[in-house]
Parts: sequence; structure tokens; C-alpha cells
Amino acid sequence: MKSVAVRKSRGIRGTISAPGDKSITHRAIILGSLARGTTVVNGYLPSEDCLHTVSAFRSMGISIEEVQTAGGPLRIDGKGLHGLSEPSAVLDLGNSGTGLRLLTGVLAGQDFFSVLTGDESLRRRPMRRVVDPLRRMGAEINGREGGNLAPLGVRGRRLKGIAYALPVASAQVKSALLLAGLLAEGRTVLTEPLPSRDHTERMFRGLGISVEIKGAELSLEPPSEFAGCEIDVPGDFSSAAFFIVAATIVKDSELVIRHVGVNPTRTGLLNLLSEMGAEIRIENRREVNQEPVADLVVRSRPLKGIPIRPESVPKTIDEFPILCVAAAVAEGETVVRGAEELRVKETDRIQAIVRELSKLGVDLKELPDGLVIRGGRKLSGARCLSYGDHRIAMALAIAGLVAEGETVVEGTEWIETSFPGFERLLRSVGQ
Ligand code: S3P
Repeated sequence: MKSVAVRKSRGIRGTISAPGDKSITHRAIILGSLARGTTVVNGYLPSEDCLHTVSAFRSMGISIEEVQTAGGPLRIDGKGLHGLSEPSAVLDLGNSGTGLRLLTGVLAGQDFFSVLTGDESLRRRPMRRVVDPLRRMGAEINGREGGNLAPLGVRGRRLKGIAYALPVASAQVKSALLLAGLLAEGRTVLTEPLPSRDHTERMFRGLGISVEIKGAELSLEPPSEFAGCEIDVPGDFSSAAFFIVAATIVKDSELVIRHVGVNPTRTGLLNLLSEMGAEIRIENRREVNQEPVADLVVRSRPLKGIPIRPESVPKTIDEFPILCVAAAVAEGETVVRGAEELRVKETDRIQAIVRELSKLGVDLKELPDGLVIRGGRKLSGARCLSYGDHRIAMALAIAGLVAEGETVVEGTEWIETSFPGFERLLRSVGQ
């Protein structure tokens, strides 16, 4: 097991770029494989989660190679919507809920049999949320607990489009159904209780696939084919988030983060931190492949606690571990409600945050659907655990920057699932 030791920082300063967006990289690999012809993906994220998706498509006969050098663009030679071949072994998606759920949608409509699995954490996560609606589309999927838990066996079938109201705001469920909808006969119409990240819809549009959006309703008319293209992946806002909070809470900081995705379905943290008193300037707004991108300039500021409404949850969903670190140093109370989805992430994040930040001296109370943080106490270094969760590991490392003495985070090898090079980048700006 790997660990990282962090000491109190005297300022976070410099100019950095965040690694490529994980959600967009997954989608580029999947859609590039289903396109007809070549797709080139610039700035893709070579993290473990995304590399598992690459391996899965390679096992189904798709050539995916880095062009020129390691770290160069990715070239995918797509064979069309029905060009995948039956994999001869189980497809292992590692730690990635996005990989497993989105692939279940793709494989439900292929003319072959496949088995999908993942690591211990992924095999505990609920899959019924994609399996149930896919079965309504005609899919044949089996798994433990009646199809709720991976490994999942998928016997591909001819699918039909359905109208379906998602019970939870989930981009993974929405995207799995949109991908299945590409392979189905007739329209797929989806409604969401609250808007979740819309990278799939934006990439569909970029590829010329028609998705009509009317309020909370999405309607997809399946194309017979679509052609590959060039896709630029912006920096991942969810990775930048750790540095945004670090530069806000460590005194005497000024950090520039270049070329970050600022899709409004992802940037709830910016609104919440601003409400708490942070200073984050958004500069050079531009659009790259249908996705809004900007540079962020962050300066340290004292924060105050706030109530967080359930409507803010989907657009902040991956940022709660690091937001809770900001709330721990803020003066006053921060209350998070309507965030029960945090219990079914890579780990139960509500429980992990409460247990581990308590070790640093933070006053927290667990609620069934969130937590209460009474901020403003001095933090003191301690030994903490990652719970095998990349975002818990990174959030605790950032908390260590404002704690007295040394903080040791155990289990930091999990950071590789989304942010290779996190520790090196933090040391480069961390004084
Ligand atoms: C993701 C969607 C979110 C998010 C995850 C990535 C995606 O999950 O938490 O890290 O790429 O679609 P849910 O759909 O379960 O909310």
C-alpha cells in the first residue's frame, strides 16, 4: 500500500493544467469505437479507469493506439455501431462505475455474449439502475442479486427505444441508455429529476447525432451510422477542484489553472465556494468541441459555512470530499442534504469523510443523506485512510496542507484511477 505524507503549506503558487477530463475521455473512447473510421482524441486522460475502457474495446477488436509518443493523442479506428466482435474473456473495468455502466448500455445491443466485471469496490455498487431500464428496452442481462451486482452477463439483443423517467439524477444511467438508444429501433426519450452532466449529449451533437432537448426531456433518434472525428479533451474540473480548494484555504496562495472544463453541469463547487467567500476568477472563456473551457485564477480567502441545497448536489457530486475540507476550515456551519448518492460511490463517501476528517480534529455529524460540518477549529495532522477511494485520498492530502504537524494518507495508489501525477503536481506548487 502506498502513502503520502503532507505538511502545512506556506502558500500554493504557480500555473498548472489539470489532467484530461475522465468523463469526456471515457465517452471519446466509447463513441470513437462505435464510429465509422478514425477518431483522434487529444489531451485524453491516461488514468487507470480510462485505460480499462481502452482495454475492453481492444478485446472487442478495436485498434486504439497512442499516436507518435507515449502521452500523445489517441487514435481509434472505429468499425461502426455493430462492428465490435465478441470478447473471448471477461471485460474488467477496474474501479470505474462509468466504464461498467456505459459499457453495459453498449453491449446490451450487440449481437454477442459478454461478461463485465470490476474490482471489489465496483462489484459492490448498484447496477440495477441501468439493468432495469435496459431490460425494458429488451436487453438480457444477468448478475448477482437479480442483476444488481457485477459480474454482469450480457446476451446482446435487438433493442427498442423507450420513454423512461430516471429515478435518480445520474449521468452514468442517462449515458448508458443513450448509448443503448443508438443501437435501438425507434426513439429513446429520457427525463431526469435534476440535470446531471451532459457530456454525452454534447459529444453526440459534435458527431452529428441528433438529440433534442426540451427542458428536462431528452429525445434521441438513432442514426444508422456516424463518422469519427477529432476530439479535444479539456482539463478535468473534478481534478482541478482539489487545487482550487487548496489555493483558497492555504494562506498566501495564488494559483492559475489553465484550460479547465467549466461545463455548468459540473461546476457546482465554483458557485458554492463563491457563496462561502472564495475568490475564483474565470478568464478566457471559450468553447472546445461543444464544451465550455476557461482558465481559473484562485487566491486565498477566509471562508464561511453555508447550507447546501439538494438542487446543488448533481453538479457538485464528485466534489463533496474536497468541499467538506473547505467547510472544515470555514467559520460556522455547513450542512449538506439530499446527497445520499455519496453512499454508493467508490466508497460510502459520507462515512469516509466523517471518520477521516474527525481524525484531523474536525467537528462533523453524519446524516442519512449528508452531513453537518462545524468549521473553524484548528486541524492537526494524523494518519488517515483512503478507503480505496481516489477522491477521499486527494481531499485528505489537501486537508494536510492546513493541519499542524504531519498528515499521512494511506492507500494513495488509488489516486491513479483519475489523477496520475497528483502528488508531483501538488509538490510543484505547494511550497
Ligand atoms: C460520471 C457520472 C457521475 C460521477 C462519476 C462520473 C460520468 O456518476 O459521480 O464520477 O462520467 O457519467 P453518477 O452518474 O452515478 O452520478
